[in-house]
Amino acid sequence: MTEAYVLVLYYSKYGATKQLAHLIADGVEAAGMSVKIRTVPNLATVVTEAAPSIPDEGDIYCTLDDLANCSALALGSPTRFGNMAAEMKYFWDQTTSLWLSGALHNKPVCVFTSSGSMHGGQESTLLSMLPPLFHHGMLIMGLSNVHPALSNTKSGGTPYGVSHVSGTRHENSISSDEKALCIEQGKRLARVAKQLQG
Ligand SMILES: Cc1cc2nc3c(=O)[nH]c(=O)nc-3n(C[C@H](O)[C@H](O)[C@H](O)COP(=O)(O)O)c2cc1C
Repeated sequence: MTEAYVLVLYYSKYGATKQLAHLIADGVEAAGMSVKIRTVPNLATVVTEAAPSIPDEGDIYCTLDDLANCSALALGSPTRFGNMAAEMKYFWDQTTSLWLSGALHNKPVCVFTSSGSMHGGQESTLLSMLPPLFHHGMLIMGLSNVHPALSNTKSGGTPYGVSHVSGTRHENSISSDEKALCIEQGKRLARVAKQLQG
């Protein structure tokens, strides 16, 4: 039997959502659980050839088995017009077999995002990621207000999930509050996954 793990699945074009993913993974490991970090391929308007199954660099692409066998999931996408990126939506549109088998039933899940501007639609993006997760029967988790960074942050961080404000030219690094919330979200997800496993 393979070791239980939390899957951190993200799409990132410019690297900000990827940074959040890796910080959440740090939190998962700090809470004593194994983690798999996975991404999804870019989409092109004109498709001439399929993307390789393993990218040339960076985190590897998520397979349906990676998703089906996780104990918990952290799901991240950049904010795209207040919505999740098409790349991530496309990935979920290929998960019908897992929906039919109930592979994700009762597994905890949280969401995260990065946007260019402060009021550019982070919350709507986080909410846009939830419907497929509800359909898969997952247990939706946010962040608790007991963490002071959630009230003190001057940039990203929402009760719906962690976030980062990258700036319109990707000039902002992850703030200390955003980082603390990523770690906390990873820890919280791992703790709940362990409790559900009994
Ligand atoms: C097509 C497109 C749409 C975007 N829409 C928004 C938006 O609605 N609000 C916003 O604040 N930023 C928007 N952005 C900016 C990205 O959300 C921002 O650069 C984000 O940090 C990118 O994440 P990444 O570095 O993980 O790719 C958009 C970017 C693109 C390319």
